[in-house]
Amino acid sequence: MPLSPILSLRDLKTHFFTRRGVARAVDGVSLDLRPGETLGVVGESGSGKTVTSLSILRLVPPPGRIVSGEILFEGRNLAVLPESELRAIRGREISMVFQDPMSSLNPFLTIGDQVAETLLVHRNQGERLSRRDALRRAAEVLGKVGIPDPASRLDDYPHRFSGGMRQRVMIAMALISNPKVLIADEPTTALDVTIQAQVLDLFERIKSEFHTSILLITHNLGIVAGIADHVAVMYAGKVVEYAPTEELFRNPRHPYTLALLKAVPRPGDPNQTVAPIPGSPPDLMRLPPGCSFYDRCPFREDRCKEEAPPLESKEIGQPREPKEPKEPREPRHLARCWVDVTEPRT
Ligand SMILES: Nc1ncnc2c1ncn2[C@@H]1O[C@H](COP(=O)(O)OP(=O)(O)OP(=O)(O)O)[C@@H](O)[C@H]1O
Ligand code: SF4
Ligand SMILES: [Mg+2]
Repeated sequence: MPLSPILSLRDLKTHFFTRRGVARAVDGVSLDLRPGETLGVVGESGSGKTVTSLSILRLVPPPGRIVSGEILFEGRNLAVLPESELRAIRGREISMVFQDPMSSLNPFLTIGDQVAETLLVHRNQGERLSRRDALRRAAEVLGKVGIPDPASRLDDYPHRFSGGMRQRVMIAMALISNPKVLIADEPTTALDVTIQAQVLDLFERIKSEFHTSILLITHNLGIVAGIADHVAVMYAGKVVEYAPTEELFRNPRHPYTLALLKAVPRPGDPNQTVAPIPGSPPDLMRLPPGCSFYDRCPFREDRCKEEAPPLESKEIGQPREPKEPKEPREPRHLARCWVDVTEPRT
């Protein structure tokens, strides 16, 4: 039997109620994150990745709010949990590395104080944890995320750290409470390629050392290729494709995923062309009645304009044999498209 998910989104809708109208930023997202797995969420800018992740911890700023759906974490629905109970989960059982690490660190506080603070804020009532112990633990976690000689860096301020090192500090802050789920929103975007590779290695280590389940958000399919077990592709507030990573790359079943894959640069390939996807995503306040990708889709048919396709199984043949008898059966391959894009086009 497959492991039950540690975190499940069920038909989640988060909308922004603005003067211009209602923006359906997250428009019926269902996702499962299983224990110990890394789930990559990819999609162009504005597809709803950040709003989905902020919704999980009910951190969506006004005029946004969760309209409907469930966020199930260990049997509790976070969408309706009393704020006091949610506070005990935020940063402790589910931690987040935010999209912008530069503005998330306080320039006037030392690195040691900021990392230790996360622990002190979340200590259990009655649990004895001195500031000194918290700082010792901060140094330990900073060492684990690859800060050299961490004990000597505790009194430094953030400006003394490079972009890559600040990103590691953010990750240390998220990990210090040993969360069950880590949500990382574009953790490598601001970094150069070498540092990106180091941060991705770090995520691999987090997975094996801390056994954390990771929701990794990025606009870059190349990044998820190396480290995600499954990938969900988002477009205009919806999941349009979901599959095990290898399967998604080998056998994409949604035209938008195909287009994204064409846009991924292949290092070292002299013949590669980086194809920008023509057109732009639809206005989330005026979503079309049919498929949201219709205007940009080279595979479109008449029915796509009026009828919105459901997210449905696109598995070809039998699922692959499990490598070991006890390994859970590969989850399904889902896509939201009327057309079988593997068929040759005329
Ligand atoms: N504060 C806001 N007010 C109004 N609408 C908003 C607000 N924040 C987000 N949105 C809407 O939600 C949509 C999704 O935004 P989101 O930040 O989740 O995109 P994203 O996929 O994370 O993009 P990026 O790759 O640029 O980070 C936006 O296109 C916008 O329409
Ligand atoms: S449903 Fe139609 S328009 Fe939408 S992605 Fe599939 S083929 Fe393209
Ligand atoms: Mg974002």
